[in-house]
This record gives sequence, C-alpha cells and structure tokens, in this order.
Amino acid sequence: MQTRKVSFSRQVTNFYFGASFSGIKNLSSQKTTVLITDENVFAAHKKLFKGYHVIVLNGGEEYKVQATVDSIIQQLIDIKVDRSWTLIGVGGGVITDMTGYVASIFLRGISFGFLPTTLLGMVDASIGGKNGIDLGFFKNMVGTINQPHFLLYDVSFLKTLPDNEWYNGFAEIIKHAAIIDATMFKELEKGSVSFFQKNKPALQALVQRNALLKAKVVKEDEFEKGRRRLLNFGHTLGHALEKQYELMHGEAVAVGMAFAAKLSRDLLGFKSVEKLVNLIDQYHLPVSTHYDKEKAFHLLVSDKKREGEQINFILLERLGKAVSKKISLPEIYKAI
Ligand SMILES: NC(=O)c1ccc[n+]([C@@H]2O[C@H](COP(=O)([O-])OP(=O)(O)OC[C@H]3O[C@@H](n4cnc5c(N)ncnc54)[C@H](O)[C@@H]3O)[C@@H](O)[C@H]2O)c1
Ligand SMILES: [Zn+2]
Repeated sequence: MQTRKVSFSRQVTNFYFGASFSGIKNLSSQKTTVLITDENVFAAHKKLFKGYHVIVLNGGEEYKVQATVDSIIQQLIDIKVDRSWTLIGVGGGVITDMTGYVASIFLRGISFGFLPTTLLGMVDASIGGKNGIDLGFFKNMVGTINQPHFLLYDVSFLKTLPDNEWYNGFAEIIKHAAIIDATMFKELEKGSVSFFQKNKPALQALVQRNALLKAKVVKEDEFEKGRRRLLNFGHTLGHALEKQYELMHGEAVAVGMAFAAKLSRDLLGFKSVEKLVNLIDQYHLPVSTHYDKEKAFHLLVSDKKREGEQINFILLERLGKAVSKKISLPEIYKAI
C-alpha cells in the first residue's frame, strides 16, 4: 500500500493506493462508521459489508436527488449517528457525490471518506471535493465543495464492473492524457481496455497516476477559477449531447473531445487530431454521433461556462497541453 497526503485549503486528504476494503477498519471504528453503497455494489460484494452499519440505496443517476438525501439522513438518525461518526461512500460517483453531500450537511458536517468502486469514480468523481445532487433537469445543481478525509483504493472491485462502465472511465483517463500528460498518452496507445483488465499492477499504476493528476489540478485551483477548468475538456459539447441523447457520460465526452480536437486544429493549429481520435476509438468510445445541431447549440448557449457572447472552451495546443480560450458563439455555431 502507498499513502499520499494531499493538502487542500481546508482539509488534508489521505490517498491509500493499492489498499483493500479491509483497510477501512484501520481508518475508523466499525461501531461508529456507516457505509453507504448502492444495490449493485452491495449485491456483488455482500460479504465485505458484514458487521457494519450499511445504508443500501437504489443504483443510478435518477436517485441522485434530494429525496434520497432525506432518506439517508432519516436512516442516520435511526442509527443514532452523532458528530463523532464517519460516513464512507462505497460505490461509483453517484454514491460518493451523495455521501460527501450528506456528510457535509448532516449535523452541519461530519467526517467522511470514499472507497470508489468504478473506474470513473477512482480517477475522477471521488476526487476534488465537489459533491451534491441533481435537481429536475439540472445535473449537480445543489451541493458543496468539501474534501473527504481519505480515499481508499481497492481495484479488485473493478472485477465486477460491466465493460461499458470501464469505457466510461477511460474517457476521463484519455482526457487527462490529452490535456496534461503526453507520456501517459503514449502508454495508452500501447495498451487497451482488456490489457488493463488483465494486468493488475498496470491498472493500479494507471489509476494512481490519474487520481494524483486530478488531485494536483484541483489543489492548484480548488474553487475553479482557472486551471481546474482544463478538466472540462470534451465536456462542453459533451454535456449538451448527454442531456439530449441516451449517451453514457464517457461516450458524450468522447464525442466532445473529438469535436474540441478539430476545433483546436482550426483555431490553434493542433496537429494530432487523428492520434486522439484513434485513441478514443481504441478504447471502445465513439468519436462522432448524429445530433441535432440547433438543439446542441441551444444547450451550449445555456451552459454554465458561458460569459456573455462567448464560451470558455478548452482546446489543445498539442497533446498534453490544454488551454482555455474564449470563443464567440457564432464561431461555435459554425463549428458544430
Ligand atoms: N464530484 C465530481 O467531481 C464528479 C466528477 C465526475 C462525475 N461525477 C458524478 O459521478 C456520477 C457518475 O459516476 P459513475 O460513472 O461511477 O456512476 P454510478 O455511481 O452510477 O456507477 C455506475 C454503475 O456501476 C455500478 N457499479 C458501481 N461499482 C460497481 C462494481 N464495482 N461492480 C459492479 N457494478 C458497479 C453502479 O451500481 C451503477 O449502476 C455522476 O453522477 C456524475 O455527476 C462527479
Ligand atoms: Zn466527466
């Protein structure tokens, strides 16, 4: 096991890499810990939860809502949880987002940690302190920024993760490589999903590299004034498409990255569109999709990142080097 401490503005978070679920008992007493998970993770790993207070939620984004938060809080009250207790989210991003949120508001804040069980959770969702819930049509509309006390990494959970959820996670890994880490980009070109599924040390190293990469970007800009925005690469168009079509987040981001790469070529002379598109395809993700341009444009215009007549768009100067550029709405309209 390898421990890394990352100091955020109000919290030091311990990252335990190469750890196992059983390591939880060294972090907080079983008697004063509540594990929060979803039905799929619970069904696949039932034995591990024995002896713990467990709250099992329905699986899926549609349950990342206030009604679920209320039900968790009611259960915490029934268990008689007080300020000295710890909540641990054991699950994908839906579970860790809600656990972080509940722990931030219950009794005005109690201690919490995460054991992410999806690839996307391990390299992205569980890191950075953003937590919260959806409200109606609006994703992540309500929440706080509050860092967990610890993150425990046990990649053996991924054995039960469906393939399409692996692809989803790889979209964010490819994103990290494209915006910041050209060396990792080359490594990914040599690998494949099935290589990482079969090779535990390589998977562990990849997860750790990506988790620390995200943690570093967040640490430099916890409240998203500058550098953290680079993590939105592929997400501006991606979010617009995800809302409209039945695309998984990773698929939408993949299409968004291919689009942003072409825009980077047209506006900044980015030379590696083909390399990026090939890598996305190599990891079983789409590089284009048929979509309604008017609708997509309309959604882009209503994006959080719009500032007046311009949108902050993340573009690539080269592989491993992203920049944030203000692009005018007509320019974007032309490109899509
Ligand atoms: N806080 C952040 O900074 C941040 C960043 C990115 C994404 N997110 C959020 O994360 C969520 C998406 O996360 P996700 O992709 O992990 O989704 P998820 O939590 O819905 O998990 C995906 C599916 O995999 C199942 N699952 C999880 N672990 C499993 C395992 N080990 N074996 C078998 N099945 C398993 C879940 O039950 C679910 O059906 C979204 O709500 C998104 O908004 C948050
Ligand atoms: Zn994403």
